[in-house]
Amino acid sequence: MPRDTPGGTWPVVTPEDEQAVLRVLRSGRLNAASPGETEVPALERAWAEATGTRHCVAVASGTAALHLALRGCGIGPGDEVIVPALTMNATAHAVYATGATPVFADVEPGTYTLDPEAVAAVAGPRTAALLPVHLHGLPADMPGLRRVADRLGVPLVEDAAQAHGALLDGRRAGALGRAGCFSLHPHKNLPSCGEGGLITTDDDGLYEQLVRLRNFGERAPESTGTRTYISHQAALNARMAPVAAAFTRSQLARFDEDARRREPGIRELVGRLDRLPGLRGPRIPAGRTHAWHILRLMPEPDELDLKPEHRTGLRAALHRMLRAEGVPVSQYQVAPLPAHPAFRPAGLSDSAALDQVAERFPVTTAVVDGSLCLQRRHLDPAAGPLLRHYADAFEKTWRHLDLVRRMAVARPAPGWREMLRKG
Ligand SMILES: Cc1ncc(COP(=O)(O)O)c(C=O)c1O
Repeated sequence: MPRDTPGGTWPVVTPEDEQAVLRVLRSGRLNAASPGETEVPALERAWAEATGTRHCVAVASGTAALHLALRGCGIGPGDEVIVPALTMNATAHAVYATGATPVFADVEPGTYTLDPEAVAAVAGPRTAALLPVHLHGLPADMPGLRRVADRLGVPLVEDAAQAHGALLDGRRAGALGRAGCFSLHPHKNLPSCGEGGLITTDDDGLYEQLVRLRNFGERAPESTGTRTYISHQAALNARMAPVAAAFTRSQLARFDEDARRREPGIRELVGRLDRLPGLRGPRIPAGRTHAWHILRLMPEPDELDLKPEHRTGLRAALHRMLRAEGVPVSQYQVAPLPAHPAFRPAGLSDSAALDQVAERFPVTTAVVDGSLCLQRRHLDPAAGPLLRHYADAFEKTWRHLDLVRRMAVARPAPGWREMLRKG
């Protein structure tokens, strides 16, 4: 890659962001419970408005957002919550933290989001909520999932950690279920300068619950701003720091503009990659928009004259060749979630458990073994020239497909099962 190719920094930190942080440091109101603190409520109002929801509650992280949203919906011990097999581990940890059990369902090919048919197949009498993830920034099939949720009589809670600003039928992620949960991890499309999370909801009762659950079960201070320190239910401290809230609100002021500026470069890259034979880019069904948090690229062995058993070798060959050209492709999720030791089916040997996961989650298995991702650098609105370089490098690699094939066959790479068997 030419050394002077501009772009590729995320998050971009401007003098305005620095001033926002300084403003808090100089105010002395360093914690969300400080009397007179205004940064956290201002971010909450701005994000409720941005998502078109009645309420927003800021919390300490995206994981805390998921945990509290589930608790607020009454999820607890004895319940089951259906989550996708392909997602970040926080989705399942949040379910465990309520005392409930995550039940995994496979994702759809191409969109990588929860498959409503797979959900219907694993739902049972203990199913108490569905927790779809808008993975990589694409809203899940919420109409299909809503039909299943309504039949079961359970709420839909969105894991929108990666999907700030994405739309489904004109409505923003976060406004598509009973509650929407966002992460403000610094690598996310809407970053904080540390940790943070946001929960959106139209439900007044849930909102009241969430305000209590993030602060030791205490009610919100009355207009006097004075805390009573009386706990009305058991809960931990999940408050967001004002410094982080001020930084995020400063980022939010240019969020739509940043999204508009990055769109043409990403569309050009995705369009050029889509024209390469045997390579699948993100599939965006009608009525949905993509926040482009992660770009997943899926090479198809059979379209490249390779056998299915060469899937991992093909991924490894492309990884080597593209990295040599300066394209930082990586794996996002190195194993299906139900195969992680923390989440494996009980009562089976490790080896049998891994085989069972591969059999039950064929789409996730193929995606984890075969695909490569681009993360973070493309979020810089000035990354256009860098993304053009990425597209050039992919096209160059595709001009050498004979070499790619030879490498894929000669150097079989371990898949997730082999990797986990080794420990
Ligand atoms: C899909 C998904 N869910 C949940 C989380 C957890 O968010 P956080 O890291 O802010 O706790 C993340 C982010 O890391 C995520 O990508």
